[in-house]
Amino acid sequence: MSLYSEKVMDHFRNPRNVGVIEDANGIGEVGNAKCGDIMKMYRKIEDDIIQDVKFETFGCGSAIASSSMATELIKGKPVAEAKELTNRAVAEALDGLPDYKMHCSVLAEEAIQAALKDYQDRTGKTV
Ligand code: FES
Repeated sequence: MSLYSEKVMDHFRNPRNVGVIEDANGIGEVGNAKCGDIMKMYRKIEDDIIQDVKFETFGCGSAIASSSMATELIKGKPVAEAKELTNRAVAEALDGLPDYKMHCSVLAEEAIQAALKDYQDRTGKTV
């Protein structure tokens, strides 16, 4: 059995939603102090719906796959729904991550929360 699921490999090799949103109104950047990996997430939110989301991740394959899956899971969804997305849900959607790589999915959850906080700070809205 290989260490990583097909879905992890697919999202690592062909990450979805990579890039920058120039007119984003919610940006979150987080890092893992231990491994030094960094994830930055951009969101364009209108009418409390995440119209677009993109990311840049400087990190390991699991972090890239987690970023990609997280963006797929929240794109087109209400902001309140994205707020509830956990790293476990991201890992499950990837058909699992090895235990010692679960922290990589935490980066995705933290980036979502950081982008949400930025959106709240900019707009004064509470989600
Ligand atoms: Fe750093 Fe995966 S090893 S996020």
